[in-house]
Amino acid sequence: PIVYLNGTLTPLSEAKIPVLDRGFIFGDGIYEVIPIYGRKLFRAEQHMARLFRSLAAIGITNPHTRAEWMALIEQVVREHPADDQMVYLHITRGVAKRAHAFPKESTPTVFIMTNPIVLPSAAARQSGVQCVSMEDKRWLHCEIKSISLLGNVLAAQNAAEHDAVESIQFRDGFLTEGSSSNVWIVKDGQLFGPPKDNLILEGIRYGLIEELCAACGITFSACRITHAEVFDADEVLLTSATKEVLPVSSIDGKPVGKGVPGPIYDKLYAAYQEAKA
Ligand code: PDD
Repeated sequence: PIVYLNGTLTPLSEAKIPVLDRGFIFGDGIYEVIPIYGRKLFRAEQHMARLFRSLAAIGITNPHTRAEWMALIEQVVREHPADDQMVYLHITRGVAKRAHAFPKESTPTVFIMTNPIVLPSAAARQSGVQCVSMEDKRWLHCEIKSISLLGNVLAAQNAAEHDAVESIQFRDGFLTEGSSSNVWIVKDGQLFGPPKDNLILEGIRYGLIEELCAACGITFSACRITHAEVFDADEVLLTSATKEVLPVSSIDGKPVGKGVPGPIYDKLYAAYQEAKA
């Protein structure tokens, strides 16, 4: 596969970065994951806006205009044979002598790669997926799409060790999010999600779910959701660029609702497929 690194297209195997890159040394950077369907970026506007917010949040001067970013991404997408892809963008503060504070001068490292998008299997959609719960031990800037992902890595590993697809995290007894997804609950036909604050990454699917709910006549509220409310929910759903909308069948071995995907999932999944078509 062909990737983009700092101004050039190159085979992935030949893409190299210096060991003093602050992404490598400090995890000092941000990223984006954008789904591509039929060679077109899905929710491009929103992903670009979040990319720009992430850069601003950590004080990296945006090296490109929106049009330049789109052209770079489209170049990488064009090189790949698959029609449906997931593009990964990674921007670090660049290379500098190792010192924690920002260097006076540095050029951001820009890396773009794409892979075929791997969506959940038909079996996972039909039966729902298993999850486990855990305390959210991450930092207090989860709203930044930071490449410093150790907390998320440990949460994902916790899930893997329990044969689960995601760890559903709670901070001080309230639902935050999955290791790499947003989490939603359904009660009495209404959808609820955690507030868009510093404790979760506002997924691009967050806004989309709000729109789809409005279009489908599903009432949506953002509010603090307790541990008990999650375990008492009729349905629990995950969303992310690669999971789209995915139903949860059990948490910690306890069935969610009837233990099978419910009607709100069905509606939102169908609406999602329509939106991306
Ligand atoms: N992760 N929360 C976290 C912690 C995430 O890592 C992600 C996405 C989301 C959902 O965001 P979106 O709807 O924009 O995909 C929420 C991506 C897919 C990843 O890290 O690979």
